[in-house]
Amino acid sequence: MKNLQKFFFAAGLMIVAACLMFTSCTKEGAQGLTGPAGKDGTNGTNGTNGKDANETCKICHTATMVDRIAVEFQQSKHSWGAAAFEEAGNTTCAPCHEQKGLVYVCQNNTSAEFLFSGGRWVNQYTVAPDAAIGEIGCWTCHSSLHTTYGESDIALTSTSAVPMTMWGGAKSINLPADNGSSNLCARCHQPRPLTCNNDPAARLLNYDSLKNFPNVVMYDSAEGAVNKYVKPAYRMHIHYGAVSAVVAGVGGIEFTGDMAYGNSPHTNAASCSDCHMADPMTGIAGGHSFNMRNARESALSSSTTWNFNGCNVTDCHAADPLSKTHATWVNTRAGVKTLLEALAAKINACGLGHDILHRDASVTNLWWGITSNNYDGYLDIYSSSTNPAGYWRDPYNTSAANLAKPKFPKLLNVQLGAIINFQFCLREYSLGIHNAEYVTALMTNSIKALETAGW
Ligand code: HEC
Ligand code: HEC
Ligand code: HEC
Ligand code: HEC
Ligand code: HEC
Repeated sequence: MKNLQKFFFAAGLMIVAACLMFTSCTKEGAQGLTGPAGKDGTNGTNGTNGKDANETCKICHTATMVDRIAVEFQQSKHSWGAAAFEEAGNTTCAPCHEQKGLVYVCQNNTSAEFLFSGGRWVNQYTVAPDAAIGEIGCWTCHSSLHTTYGESDIALTSTSAVPMTMWGGAKSINLPADNGSSNLCARCHQPRPLTCNNDPAARLLNYDSLKNFPNVVMYDSAEGAVNKYVKPAYRMHIHYGAVSAVVAGVGGIEFTGDMAYGNSPHTNAASCSDCHMADPMTGIAGGHSFNMRNARESALSSSTTWNFNGCNVTDCHAADPLSKTHATWVNTRAGVKTLLEALAAKINACGLGHDILHRDASVTNLWWGITSNNYDGYLDIYSSSTNPAGYWRDPYNTSAANLAKPKFPKLLNVQLGAIINFQFCLREYSLGIHNAEYVTALMTNSIKALETAGW
């Protein structure tokens, strides 16, 4: 929480300065001999309000504080992204996409559990309809702003451990650095649940069974609609927030294999803001832009520049400063990329000659340039709206265009687990910088589990 410390230090100095002025006045009055005390006077009338009430405003409203930060924030996708508008009014999406939604789930301590109600398992992680609105902004993360008009108003909305919605609350993310400031980010940047959407009771997918019963059939086109589990579809996925789970080293399908599950030092020693809010900014990276990369909407290339100011601080990488050509950076990322491609090849093998993983070499792919084939974690299944050129048949769509496509291959539990892990490791975006140990073990052991199952 170095920035907050800096902030409180500056505010503290103002208070110290005010105290010094006060004591010097009383000293002057204490000079010379003092006579006996006089009678008490009558009470005076109330004075008019002073003119210095807005002094506390200046704790924040200065060119170097709110004014500077508001401009930095214009470079953040929190500010310019369209999701807050697109998902407005949706009480399921609002906990992570709407200003009032995040504040609602934090203040109400909303449960991440699934409860059985009306014959179905219902996800409790939703907000009241009037809280499903608002762009992500200063008040999202600093929800006490303008309550006391003092320095404490800058406090973060929540820093407590985050029950994972993906696991129905059975696992939590708890990142200790900077007094838990990363837990604020994890509230939103966490994966979403996969439910058994071919089951009338809509149970949460049992992830442990993917690991413990790898050879059970998850889906088989021969069984058609009697399949009880997850429908293969273009968007059979964990959503876009794998990052915090990967940083914390929790929530993947942890197949037993040759590698033990461990964490990078980043898990305990670095906060999200240490890397993503580094000062000073480098172009559009750092500060309240939350970017690491000084480029937007462009594929990774050798000319991509980064903000390493957060990495190269005392106690971290100062002694051997990182850069985009440093071996630690280059080799970590290259190693994770190789593993991603090896795991993708093993997953694709179930298509017996045609890939099942979707590729997208366009600017709208959030993972453009991460793998050579530009995978995005979706499956290449037909969808009239989102993937009209899809190769495989959607098993539950009866349109003529869809039925002309080849049947989607059979999927075992282990294969679905491997797909989920692929999504975790691709969609953490950083090619291992977040937690190389965890993603390396997840992918190595997933490949082994697929081999053991005959793939
Ligand atoms: C996505 C969450 C998030 C949003 C949105 C956000 N902040 Fe922050 N802010 C933080 C975090 C986290 C810190 C603590 C930084 C640290 O620990 O290094 C912080 C710190 C601060 C500080 C402390 C001092 C400093 O120099 O950084 C101020 C002031 C501040 N934010 C103002 C703002 C303003 C103004 C906005 C809107 C333009 C805003 N914040 C939006 C998360 C957020
Ligand atoms: C703890 C920090 C802090 C203090 C103290 C503070 N403000 Fe603010 N104020 C903010 C932030 C952050 C914003 C949002 C800036 C933005 O959206 O770009 C803001 C926005 C505003 C706005 C713009 C309208 C709005 O609500 O978005 C006004 C007006 C304002 N403040 C007045 C005041 C006054 C008057 C005081 C003192 C009585 C004060 N503020 C004290 C942080 C503070
Ligand atoms: C209220 C939920 C919420 C919180 C809290 C939050 N984020 Fe985000 N973040 C989002 C959403 C939603 C987006 C994408 C917005 C869009 O596409 O419209 C995003 C985008 C981002 C991006 C850009 C992603 C991209 O694809 O370019 C970064 C980086 C980021 N957040 C980091 C952080 C960090 C670091 C924190 C904690 C200090 C944080 N976020 C806190 C919801 C949140
Ligand atoms: C648990 C938190 C969470 C929930 C709930 C959630 N999202 Fe998101 N979503 C995110 C985060 C975080 C991102 C931004 C990821 C990034 O850019 O790194 C995101 C990104 C998106 C994007 C932008 C993708 C892109 O290509 O830029 C869309 C669209 C989206 N979500 C739709 C939805 C919809 C629709 C719902 C409800 C059905 C929903 N989300 C529920 C966390 C969530
Ligand atoms: C050790 C440094 C480090 C830490 C700690 C860290 N990140 Fe990252 N993060 C990165 C790097 C490097 C990238 C890749 C950025 C890129 O390719 O533009 C990245 C990418 C991302 C992205 C994708 C968007 C983007 O800008 O490309 C999101 C979202 C994100 N991180 C969120 C988080 C959250 C949330 C946390 C804390 C739970 C966190 N990060 C912790 C270094 C870090």
